[in-house]
Amino acid sequence: MEKIKIAIIGLGYVGLPLARLFATKYDVVGFDINETRIQEINRGFDKTLEIDEAQLKEVQKETKDGKGLYCTHTLKDIAACTYYIVTVPTPIDSNKRPVLTPLFKSSETVGKVLKKGDVVIFESTVYPGVTEDECVPVLEKVSGLRFNKDFFAGYSPERINPGDKLHTVDKILKVTSGSTLEVAKKVDALYASVITAGTHLAPTIKVAEAAKVIENSQRDINIAFVNELAKIFNLMDIKTHDVLEAAGTKWNFLPFKPGLVGGHCIGVDPYYLAQKAQELGYHPEIILAGRRLNDSMGSYVASEVIKLMLQKDIAIKGADILVLGITFKENCPDVRNPKVVDVIQHLKEFGVHVIVFDPWINVVEVDKEYGLDAITDVPNQKFDAIVHAVAHNEFKNLDFALLKKDNAVVYDVKGSLSFDVDGVL
Ligand SMILES: NC(=O)c1ccc[n+]([C@@H]2O[C@H](COP(=O)([O-])OP(=O)(O)OC[C@H]3O[C@@H](n4cnc5c(N)ncnc54)[C@H](O)[C@@H]3O)[C@@H](O)[C@H]2O)c1
Repeated sequence: MEKIKIAIIGLGYVGLPLARLFATKYDVVGFDINETRIQEINRGFDKTLEIDEAQLKEVQKETKDGKGLYCTHTLKDIAACTYYIVTVPTPIDSNKRPVLTPLFKSSETVGKVLKKGDVVIFESTVYPGVTEDECVPVLEKVSGLRFNKDFFAGYSPERINPGDKLHTVDKILKVTSGSTLEVAKKVDALYASVITAGTHLAPTIKVAEAAKVIENSQRDINIAFVNELAKIFNLMDIKTHDVLEAAGTKWNFLPFKPGLVGGHCIGVDPYYLAQKAQELGYHPEIILAGRRLNDSMGSYVASEVIKLMLQKDIAIKGADILVLGITFKENCPDVRNPKVVDVIQHLKEFGVHVIVFDPWINVVEVDKEYGLDAITDVPNQKFDAIVHAVAHNEFKNLDFALLKKDNAVVYDVKGSLSFDVDGVL
């Protein structure tokens, strides 16, 4: 029987849960360039809060039957693996162009230890062609081995949703693919052995790559549409959420809500598809229009808040505004590319003083990344305006009366507060 030893390269939101899952059945080595992350994981602490200590310790304990998780930042520790699964970041730069550097670097890492018969599977979100046209040449060059003769490739996009304890990696159907039919079947069988929700074997790697990037692009465009509706209905003095609730009674109306589209997936991945389309001479219209619309929502929310404050004769310059939540989504500590930052930046242009309250964050990280005053405990002061930006569970029981000055504005970006507010997106 084939000996399976799996290396997971990049132990972030995607890599660690995947490594843990495979470790319940296989011998797994988790590899990351971030030494601190490795030390934390080896102590049983996952700062992304996706995996708890008990789950980690369960797979980390010594086992005699060839399964379990060992994490490292040392190359030689992954040398004996037969499958390399790459889960490194795929961000964009300040000009919104794909940055493939982590993929190139991790391909170099894998190339150094690649052996005949090995399979390298990429999970990072990319545009069609990145695996075979960008990463495989690096693997070939560094290893000196030949693609589809000596080693093989696969692509299996990740669909996890950070902070979601219901739809965990094993419970989300996984798209798989491989560089030959035989390898595709092997890749599919590997995932099928741990993913209880099942797998879908795509006909080619490029199909699997395209499937992932359009899932997120479709979501981005749908949210852009309801964000545009919110702007229109606000001008008409109609409550967007009421309209969506009414329209949602039709069986095929899609239940999207207006909001800030941040994070490292929905707000980023469409640029990967757009960039590749532009390289091929096609200028994507809907994809980029959706991006522009969603990127405009931070300044829109800020101007709505200021407008409401003016209507209540609240002095803007020097006003104290409390922003509830800064993570890119509710009930998770992820502060990558949160669009609440756009709201705050635009608010500050009016000369107001903003404090962020978010019980989920690391304040040092938020200060370093965004230079913002953030706190994790309920503030002990009253504010001229409160912006409910992220629907963390903690905010459901917050006593707004203790935080509001008499005449204060409450603006609900999420439309989820259970009392009457002054403005809703
Ligand atoms: N987080 C999500 O919800 C999610 C969902 C689906 C898909 N994805 C995609 O999965 C990929 C990974 O995302 P993530 O959220 O896990 O990122 P992350 O930033 O949480 O983790 C990435 C990890 O890779 C490590 N790393 C970076 N370069 C490396 C290298 N050269 N060698 C080894 N390790 C390296 C980093 O230190 C980090 O620990 C991205 O392409 C992302 O778009 C993410």
